[in-house]
Amino acid sequence: MFHAPLIAPSILAADFSRLGQEVSDVVEAGADWIHLDVMDGHFVPNISFGPAVIKALRPVTKAVFDCHLMIAPADPYLAAFAEAGCDYITVHAEAGPHLHRSLQTIRALGKKAGVSLNPATPVSALEHVIDDVDLILIMSVNPGFGGQSFIPAAAEKLRQAKTLIGTRPVALEVDGGITVETAPLVTAAGANVLVAGSAIYKGQGVDAYRKTVAALRQAAEGGRA
Ligand code: DX5
Ligand code: ZN
Repeated sequence: MFHAPLIAPSILAADFSRLGQEVSDVVEAGADWIHLDVMDGHFVPNISFGPAVIKALRPVTKAVFDCHLMIAPADPYLAAFAEAGCDYITVHAEAGPHLHRSLQTIRALGKKAGVSLNPATPVSALEHVIDDVDLILIMSVNPGFGGQSFIPAAAEKLRQAKTLIGTRPVALEVDGGITVETAPLVTAAGANVLVAGSAIYKGQGVDAYRKTVAALRQAAEGGRA
């Protein structure tokens, strides 16, 4: 659905003491979306930040806020993330018994509905909700931490998800271990939104981010060629 692969830096790897500046710097450096990793210490073994932090960041940029909820349950908090200014709200298929209800709730809040799959969850889990999603997020690491290694089986899952999506206007995102080495593999498999945390925020400041965003974009476009 997108002409070029989009680059979505995850601020999980940014300097949390200067989060607003980190968001504005990476957008100035050419990033397309801002990926917001919300963790609850229950669905995943780590805690990050919630809607109050996202709301505080919202005035910093007009860039799309791509919110990845690694929380269970998610439904009681969807309205808060919508009000905080998220554009896409993605829930995990494994996070609750009523995925279809979660997706409908997100759309009813006027937001784009995403669904994410852990490495062990088959793409077939989405077969019956595909018309209710705007984004599929394939995890290429086990969620919870930045800086992990890419799980190669994610490439085949991306291919299967691309087939399931067909001509529907659904974004296909991949998250975890994305580097200049793995970016071409995932775009060749159909991914069109690439999340990257540590690969982008390894340096600091606009000039450093411009180089890493450009290198990832070039590598991602290479996979399409
Ligand atoms: C993992 C998060 C990812 C993570 C990616 O639970 O969903 O978004 O921050 O980090 P890297 O790019 O370092 O693997
Ligand atoms: Zn994420």
